[in-house]
Amino acid sequence: MEIAVVEALEKFYGKSDREIRLFYSPGRVNLIGEHTDYNGGYVFPCALDFGTYAAIRKRDDKKVFMASLNFDLKVEVDLDSIFYDKEHDWANYPKGVLKILQEEGYEFSGFEIVFGGNIPVGAGLSSSASIEMVTAVAVNEVFNLNIDRINLVKLCQRAENTFVGVNCGIMDQFAVGMGKKGHAILLKSDTLEYSYVPLNLEGYKILITNTNKKRGLLDSKYNERRSECEKALTYLKKALPVKNLSEVTVERFEEYKDLIPDEVLRKRARHVITENKRVLDAVKALNDNDIVKFGKLMIESHNSLRNDFEVTGKELDTLVEEALKLKGVVGSRMTGAGFGGCTVSIVKEDAVEEFIEVVTRNYTQKIGYAPTVYITGVGEGAGEVEYLRR
Ligand code: GLA
Repeated sequence: MEIAVVEALEKFYGKSDREIRLFYSPGRVNLIGEHTDYNGGYVFPCALDFGTYAAIRKRDDKKVFMASLNFDLKVEVDLDSIFYDKEHDWANYPKGVLKILQEEGYEFSGFEIVFGGNIPVGAGLSSSASIEMVTAVAVNEVFNLNIDRINLVKLCQRAENTFVGVNCGIMDQFAVGMGKKGHAILLKSDTLEYSYVPLNLEGYKILITNTNKKRGLLDSKYNERRSECEKALTYLKKALPVKNLSEVTVERFEEYKDLIPDEVLRKRARHVITENKRVLDAVKALNDNDIVKFGKLMIESHNSLRNDFEVTGKELDTLVEEALKLKGVVGSRMTGAGFGGCTVSIVKEDAVEEFIEVVTRNYTQKIGYAPTVYITGVGEGAGEVEYLRR
């Protein structure tokens, strides 16, 4: 893939003595801490060992040419008039990043860029954050904009919120921008305080299983959950001096939950508040080398997302249910926004084959089509890549 994007750039836009540089950004999986990031809470994602490459070459005019090895569509943009265009499909993500950089006052000339990656699109593994981040890092480096990494992360989130129009939290961009090989990131999403936690999973593998469900209306359901959380918060604020749901402890919530008159809103708040605690408990379990406890918390997280937050659905529930029937599976849960997308499971190394075979067979029987299982390592965050020409 690395060399393929470099070669494609020359094939699409011609050879030249202008330098081609190569950048990479991973996808991410969240291990625990779901739907907490827009409630000021903790998340615990890690970068995957697969992602998006981008080969980039400066031009001396104001034109940006974009192509991808994953899609036929090629796009040409004038830096003086960048706007969202539905027809531009995937290219709206990098365009959004350029627009936000301009709004922040950064100046750069045109360029050619070719993307290529192996993150399944629309599966909830942050293919969009990955293409945003690889664009941001590439432009930052090639044009010497000197923007620090956390600010690039924030710029990418803004591009997604205001340009693409998806009201996501900061987790995805943070995980792909700040990931570290062999580590997960404990991130407090309101202050952006973070620490790296070594993932000592000796004897275990992280398996990601894609439901392969076509997700409709994901953004509107996501936004609905966001506003339910905001409403629940306004009730709790009547008695508690808190800025967001994550500041409420589980004990406090039990004491004050009846302030929330609506049963659904109460359940939404309970998920966020208990999930936030589960993240900290899970990190402690990892630090204590207690993988079994970590797995149990993953299962509790899934149950809470199913019963209280109601973002799972029969595909995700079936994957988790079938996975948990196997002895070698210590934990399994949906990951990402939900309503489809993927599960993440921690599986004993010697049970991986059985997992793939049995979960695939039983899911296919129940749902009518097959899932896809990926075995992933924990990779590095975004950055420049050295390459050798063939
Ligand atoms: C999506 C969003 C994230 C986060 C998760 C749910 O992945 O992009 O910001 O809210 O859903 O945890």
